[in-house]
Amino acid sequence: MHLDGKRRSGFFLTLEGPEGSGKSTQAQRLAARLIDSGIPCTVTREPGGTALGEAVRQILLHSPEPSPVPAADALLFNAARAQLAAEVIEPALERGEIVICDRFGDSTLAYQGYGAGLPLEALRDLQSFAVGDLRPDLTVLIDLPVEDGLRRKQPDQVTRFEERADVEFHRRVRDGFLTLAASEPDRFLVVDGRQTVEVIEDSILQALRAGLGSRVQVPSRNEAVAPDASSQITSEPERSSLRMNR
Ligand code: TMP
Repeated sequence: MHLDGKRRSGFFLTLEGPEGSGKSTQAQRLAARLIDSGIPCTVTREPGGTALGEAVRQILLHSPEPSPVPAADALLFNAARAQLAAEVIEPALERGEIVICDRFGDSTLAYQGYGAGLPLEALRDLQSFAVGDLRPDLTVLIDLPVEDGLRRKQPDQVTRFEERADVEFHRRVRDGFLTLAASEPDRFLVVDGRQTVEVIEDSILQALRAGLGSRVQVPSRNEAVAPDASSQITSEPERSSLRMNR
């Protein structure tokens, strides 16, 4: 039950990881897989996913020098998160959809907490203020060595966090993610990001199937698609099956 009394019937999956881990590729592949199977889903990202969030993303990732201080970062990421939760994630979950979000609150704990040194408790309180009790049902952490991830980034994907933070910062972020995952093993799946895209995708599909239980049948990568799969998650057939909030 949500704080405001609404019941969520969907499933909230987040993808996390250090720079260049391949989260966005997996988010798109998973969304495409669900849509091919007729399973309603919404795919979105942080920061972003709403008009406000995309404007905040521009400020956060491409702000001129001097960079925002870590507390300003934490507040801005959570401002974008509050809007995304209210405008996109909560309504989709209430419609019974699977919501795939490329980064969420664990990124703030990893980057602004473990990376930049802000206290985790304050960051958790801030997140609760921003999104209430909204928490992922499943979080996939795509882990890989910092140097490998930074090497993978294309020039047009480079943000302030790669340009201005040193490798040690990114090591703390990676270790932070792994610590978070170890502290909540039931919520996290940790995947080795050095594996092929297909192997990673299979692991995610397997974890999603386990998380959903008998509620929705998600076919594996090599399985045929069930023709009436959409009816397995919702009884509202008029709903569009994929919303892209980028
Ligand atoms: P990306 O989604 O393309 O990886 O870019 C988002 C960048 O913002 C990435 O460097 C991680 C960083 N970030 C934070 O520092 N804190 C946060 O809460 C989030 C969502 C992202």
